[in-house]
Amino acid sequence: MSSEFSDPVTWWRVHRDDHVVLDGFHAIKHALRFGADVRVVLSADVPTLTRLADDLAPDVALTVTRLATPVSQDVLATLVRRPHPTRVAALASRPNLRLPTPRTAPVITLDNPRHLGNAGAVVRLAAGFGLDGVLTTGDVDPWHPAVVRAAAGLHFATAVSRVDEDEMPRGPLFVLDAKGDDLRDVTVPDDAVLVFGSERHGVSRKFRDRADLVASLPMRPKVSSYNLATSVAMTVYAWAARKETVTGARRQR
Ligand SMILES: C[S@@+](CC[C@H](N)C(=O)[O-])C[C@H]1O[C@@H](n2cnc3c(N)ncnc32)[C@H](O)[C@@H]1O
Repeated sequence: MSSEFSDPVTWWRVHRDDHVVLDGFHAIKHALRFGADVRVVLSADVPTLTRLADDLAPDVALTVTRLATPVSQDVLATLVRRPHPTRVAALASRPNLRLPTPRTAPVITLDNPRHLGNAGAVVRLAAGFGLDGVLTTGDVDPWHPAVVRAAAGLHFATAVSRVDEDEMPRGPLFVLDAKGDDLRDVTVPDDAVLVFGSERHGVSRKFRDRADLVASLPMRPKVSSYNLATSVAMTVYAWAARKETVTGARRQR
């Protein structure tokens, strides 16, 4: 925290817009585990925070409790829209994570996603499976507090960024759409760029025209589509199921 404001609440109000809001204990825990520079932690219940940290995350407990400043629940409610039941929130520096080179795992592209919870669920998936990143097109900020909250702070475990449609990374471009080649007959390459469409309108023409392959997840007749985040989960699982090791988790035989 900068010395220009000795009061952490004032610092929060001044710096909130250019920092990442971590809402709740689990988001703070994950962010710290994946190297976030957490600047301020405000807690309306320090004893519970200390117990949670000791019980659930002894690896970061010392850092969390050292950073924690007690505030009232009323003050916390003026700083975050809907305070998390764990009554703690933090601000972290926004990292500039880049896609790794060489690419070793797929990148997810969400084409103009509308639902912040879906975007967060996809970041959480990408972190769990060790994907190279999550890119979004359109006007949603993938670092919006609601997306970070839905991702349980796992933005720091993968590269998350908003991009233009013309800024796709290298790699085979696979579009996922209800009408396409059956994904069960497809091998998803490690360096694939997997494009998923918006909840309302699906994948835009621009991506369809550039696709190396359009793949579909099996559905029984009369069902028109799956939810966006579950579609990503099934596709990523199809990639991972063929691999011996994913994110350091070796297959048990
Ligand atoms: C809720 S769906 C979009 C539905 C939209 N009304 C449409 O016309 O495509 C959101 C995204 O999930 C993915 N998706 C949903 N069901 C799928 C399926 N059966 N196969 C492949 N992708 C699917 C697609 O990428 C789709 O654009």
